Amino acid sequence: MILYLDCDTGIDDAIAVAFLLAHPGADLKGIGTVNGNTSAVQAARNTLGLLALAGRDDIPVAVGEGEIKRGAKVVHGDNGVGGVALPATGRPDPRTSVRLLLDLSRQHPGELHLLATGPCTNLAEALCQDPTLPGRVRGVTVMGGAVRVPGNITPRAEANIGDNPAAADAVLTAAWPVTLVPLDVTLRHRWSEQDRARLGATPLTRALAAMLPAYLDFYEGRTGERRVPLHDPLAAAIATGDVTPSHAEDLPLRVAPDGHITEEGGRSVRVIFGVQDGAEQIILERINGISRSALA
Ligand code: BDR
Ligand code: CA
Repeated sequence: MILYLDCDTGIDDAIAVAFLLAHPGADLKGIGTVNGNTSAVQAARNTLGLLALAGRDDIPVAVGEGEIKRGAKVVHGDNGVGGVALPATGRPDPRTSVRLLLDLSRQHPGELHLLATGPCTNLAEALCQDPTLPGRVRGVTVMGGAVRVPGNITPRAEANIGDNPAAADAVLTAAWPVTLVPLDVTLRHRWSEQDRARLGATPLTRALAAMLPAYLDFYEGRTGERRVPLHDPLAAAIATGDVTPSHAEDLPLRVAPDGHITEEGGRSVRVIFGVQDGAEQIILERINGISRSALA
């Protein structure tokens, strides 16, 4: 599948990037960054560092525009990746994230899949600049929202949707097929210290293992359990088809100005409420370069 990833590279975004880089069926044509966990500039630095570790500096990384609203230093560390120093060799693409996304949609009409693991700011701006965009996009997968569970930045809002509710509403109601992967499912699929210990010994997997303690510390403080939700990698694994939904509903979602998601008034969005057992291990094995068929 031909992919554009839009992310706010944070620790779980970094895991999603590693998952996609390890995936033989994921042809990652470009990555745009957005303000969210950290600034779009810092997210681009982080992403370029991950690509350098993987030897994939052929993938363009473009920086999103605008000012950071939230930031999540307490969750993802001061630099967004748990304080881990990544290589600083790569340079961002001269285009903005929106320009890169629009260019890719024209180069791969009808084939491009969008995966958003940060706020929907760039996708909404691309829709605004080119209302014909949905006609060239095969599908959109968004990690975000708290549909029937409490939010994680307010009782009513999840971070990616709550950071830019108007943008999320524009993306969820545009005329393209959207799959939403909300907290309802991501909070139930987590890695522990044991999973961290099973990460491989490549430069990229070692960097992930070094980032995870900061993320584990935060969730341990919040929940009392030393486990971290796989928000963004789960969305990536659903987009690629590695993880199969066990409970999905097509719902006419809208996003209210406070980031709350309502189940009426919008276009149909496929909302994932449950996935098959073992999704955590499927993601880990893919990152380590072990395919399911090799294990069977
Ligand atoms: C989402 O918000 C960010 O902190 C994570 O990277 C994830 O995309 C979870 O609410
Ligand atoms: Ca994210």
